[in-house]
Amino acid sequence: MGTVTEAAVSRSRTSRLKLCGLDRPVSAARRHAHDVLVAWGVPTELVDNAEIIVSELVTNAVQHAAPDGGAEEFGLSLRHRRLVIAVSDRAPSVPPSPRPECPAGSEAESGRGLCIVAALARAHGCMLSADHKVVWAHLTVPRTSSDIPNAAAA
Ligand SMILES: Nc1ncnc2c1ncn2[C@@H]1O[C@H](COP(=O)(O)OP(=O)(O)OP(=O)(O)O)[C@@H](O)[C@H]1O
Ligand SMILES: [Mg+2]
Repeated sequence: MGTVTEAAVSRSRTSRLKLCGLDRPVSAARRHAHDVLVAWGVPTELVDNAEIIVSELVTNAVQHAAPDGGAEEFGLSLRHRRLVIAVSDRAPSVPPSPRPECPAGSEAESGRGLCIVAALARAHGCMLSADHKVVWAHLTVPRTSSDIPNAAAA
């Protein structure tokens, strides 16, 4: 059971990855998130949850912003136990926020991504500016891993 050290969370850390032009932006972002968060000392369970969130947000940017160039950039920041995952794209439409209606039943083939994000993140949302938007999710790095939401329950 890993715990991030006080020294690790008291420092501000950021990491960014350009996604536009990559052949496989979802797997690239997920791999980048894994490597960076492990290097920052984030507990394994939270790294797993963060990777799921990254996959959903980048997949959404790839799919729903496709006419506007798909996923643009992916960023991570960690400060004072607050881990922020952010994915930008140039589509003017915004996802439902803060909590979308989840599709009923297990047969639904779409509309689950943001429900999973909502279940795993402390908060999520979207910031829209003149030429792009940022969809973000925020997790709290706990002192122990006992209060990390279980991805299997999402
Ligand atoms: N980056 C985005 N830009 C524009 N619209 C978005 C974006 N992300 C999500 N949306 C909108 O929010 C809806 C809900 O997203 P969600 O990820 O929950 O479901 P989905 O992508 O449709 O299906 P699934 O993720 O289950 O494959 C999408 O159908 C889309 O209309
Ligand atoms: Mg989706």
